[in-house]
Amino acid sequence: MRSAILDGWVRAFLTAHPTGTVVEVGTGLNTRFDRLDNGAVRWFDLDLPDTIALRRRFFADRQRRTMLVGSVLDTDWFDTVAAAPGPYLFVCEAVFVYLTGEQVHTVLSQLAHRFAGSLIAFDTAGAVMLRNQHRNGSMHAVAARMQWVCDDPRELARWGPELLDTRTFATPQPDVASTWPARYRYGMPLLARLLPFIVNNYKLNCSGSPEFLNEAAMLNIRRALRRLGDAQIGCRPIDAPPSTNIVCPVMNDASSDSKKAIAAAMSWGRPRRPMGTMAR
Ligand SMILES: C[S@@+](CC[C@H](N)C(=O)[O-])C[C@H]1O[C@@H](n2cnc3c(N)ncnc32)[C@H](O)[C@@H]1O
Repeated sequence: MRSAILDGWVRAFLTAHPTGTVVEVGTGLNTRFDRLDNGAVRWFDLDLPDTIALRRRFFADRQRRTMLVGSVLDTDWFDTVAAAPGPYLFVCEAVFVYLTGEQVHTVLSQLAHRFAGSLIAFDTAGAVMLRNQHRNGSMHAVAARMQWVCDDPRELARWGPELLDTRTFATPQPDVASTWPARYRYGMPLLARLLPFIVNNYKLNCSGSPEFLNEAAMLNIRRALRRLGDAQIGCRPIDAPPSTNIVCPVMNDASSDSKKAIAAAMSWGRPRRPMGTMAR
């Protein structure tokens, strides 16, 4: 579920920027490139030396996909990434939670400074999750422990990029949810009602510059309009370039069904509820 939600943002990024660059930070044995390669993206898999050595036993570099030995805490790999075409998306799956708050601050500030206008997707764990991590069976097999408590990912905006979207396992992107088995699709929202303090304590987040929000929202608007059919809307061509802010020029002409679809599409990049309240 975690990977699927992050994949959703990578897919949206690649739809808007097919020749952009994705950096999988703390890649481990992640197979995201193999799942999402669009034939044009430039991709880097960054991890510490021992992990990359292990990874090389299963994966090989290719023309558009390169393994990088380095630490997310350092900047020595920045030039290699910056030489690839922008814009950039950094995916940090199950990495920040193992750092200290101070280290996450450093990483976000460094990325925001060098790769201004890029997107970053990452997960956050709140105090309840950290307190209970010893109960998670998978944690028994590893020495690493989660350290960074983040109950409200909006707070990170003061260190760099703005929070554009935040999800829990109970509130995945609709197009992602539609690929999940029913037990997750319906089970997680139910569990979130029963145990909100647990389900809502772990979040998947996407931060970046607000233009990305507009692009993603406009992509979803176009998809929604396509589903409804141009004739019903009677508006400007749906492939017109995205506007730089979230204003839909067709709203006044649209039927109420269209308005609902557009409103739903525009909610793509917005937190679905006020942060700190519980998902329903
Ligand atoms: C829990 S694993 C997650 C692996 C992968 N992202 C996934 O979700 O499948 C954490 C990964 O972060 C890597 N890591 C830890 N500290 C790091 C650092 N300072 N810089 C880069 N990677 C790091 C570890 O080597 C490990 O591969």
